[in-house]
Amino acid sequence: MRVASETEPMGAQIDIRPVTEATYDAFRHAFAATFGFASSTDEIERSRAWAEYDRLLMAWAPDGSIVGTSGALSFGLSLPGARSAACAGITMVSVRADHRRRGLLTRMMVDLLDDAAARSEPFAALWASESPIYGRYGFGPAVPTIDISLDRRHADLHLDGPVGEVRFVDVEEARATFPALHERLRATRGGVMSRSDGWWTRVVTEEPGPAKATGPLRLALLPDRGYVIYHLASGWSDGAPRGVVHVHDLLGLDPAALAALWRFAIDTDLSETLEIVRRPPDDPVLHLLRDPARARAGAGWPLYLRLVDVPSALAARGYLGDGTVVVDVADRLRPANAGRWRLTASDGNGRCERTDDAPDVSLDVAELAAISLGGVRATALLDAGRLSGSSGAAVLLDRLFATERAPVSDQMF
Ligand SMILES: CC(C)(COP(=O)(O)OP(=O)(O)OC[C@H]1O[C@@H](n2cnc3c(N)ncnc32)[C@H](O)[C@@H]1OP(=O)(O)O)[C@@H](O)C(=O)NCCC(=O)NCCS
Repeated sequence: MRVASETEPMGAQIDIRPVTEATYDAFRHAFAATFGFASSTDEIERSRAWAEYDRLLMAWAPDGSIVGTSGALSFGLSLPGARSAACAGITMVSVRADHRRRGLLTRMMVDLLDDAAARSEPFAALWASESPIYGRYGFGPAVPTIDISLDRRHADLHLDGPVGEVRFVDVEEARATFPALHERLRATRGGVMSRSDGWWTRVVTEEPGPAKATGPLRLALLPDRGYVIYHLASGWSDGAPRGVVHVHDLLGLDPAALAALWRFAIDTDLSETLEIVRRPPDDPVLHLLRDPARARAGAGWPLYLRLVDVPSALAARGYLGDGTVVVDVADRLRPANAGRWRLTASDGNGRCERTDDAPDVSLDVAELAAISLGGVRATALLDAGRLSGSSGAAVLLDRLFATERAPVSDQMF
């Protein structure tokens, strides 16, 4: 990875370097300290299964202390039309409190995006703990998600006929069966990140929380059709059990499988509520419930996307209809993306080329990212003043970017 330039006037004495196997522990501790938690030795050891040292950056002060961290993970991002493209998952961003507002994050972000471009990754993505920060780097909220909370007393489902047998499996069987099911999900919706072997180990073995308050991670399989991963956090008051079922991942590849797995999770004894986050806004469970009005479903965190390479990113996805639109893109950080592009969709494929034609729509690269998977509508951005053009042109963009299912991003990284 290229090392950041040392010529900036602000924070110029700070040296930004890639992490090595030997400095990885210090990197994790520095990141955790800024976020206000402690990383255990055990947790750090386990994270080595998925960390990519050469994609992690550490900022060193002249006194040898670590004042900033950031990094990327190599993912495949599922795209509309059962496609996938390489994506840099930006993560572990922190700058020590006494070194903020000196341009350190900006230096690291420029390096991370340059590195993604050098690796031919058309997309970068992140989960923003402080969401106002990332628009300036060209990231837009592209994959809206919802969080759902169900009161078990009002969680009857439309369940007709036999649904098949959901059974607990051990880690080994989960490792052998869940990844292929998840890959099949990726073919049905955009926004879903691929999971490496190391990442799967994390998914099926992660400690759900402090041992006293939570039960173990439960792994349940409906063979060839889906799985659910959850844990029960126990709770008691007024002499009654009031546990909470926290669902980490629930995936059913056909309607009956989905219903069966929801039923299984909802039926957890000693619980009062079920909580699940990062679901798609068109989650079928809201229509599976006999009493959907009693479900609490609200906006969750969106996944932020960045088009590292505009023409490659737009050509990578599939398109439902045919059409042509000319967009004029502003990109302060990556000038190669700026200017006019003609996007043509035909026979399911997209082509994106330079043009001098008059633009139908002008927008920042962050807004282009926001609409690129069909999860956010161009007409909504037009009405919010975030892109300029005619209403007809925004409608045309909506039609071009429309997808069969809403994108979803089911994994925090
Ligand atoms: C957020 C954080 C990484 C920013 O690092 P930094 O080195 O201070 O950022 P920079 O100096 O490069 O500032 C970049 C820009 O972001 C702005 N910015 C920084 N933190 C911000 C915040 N919390 N909210 C809004 N804007 C912010 C700066 O004002 C600056 O704007 P400008 O380019 O218009 O001048 C750092 O404050 C931090 O570690 N915070 C705690 C952990 C955290 O929130 N991490 C983010 C995880 S998603």
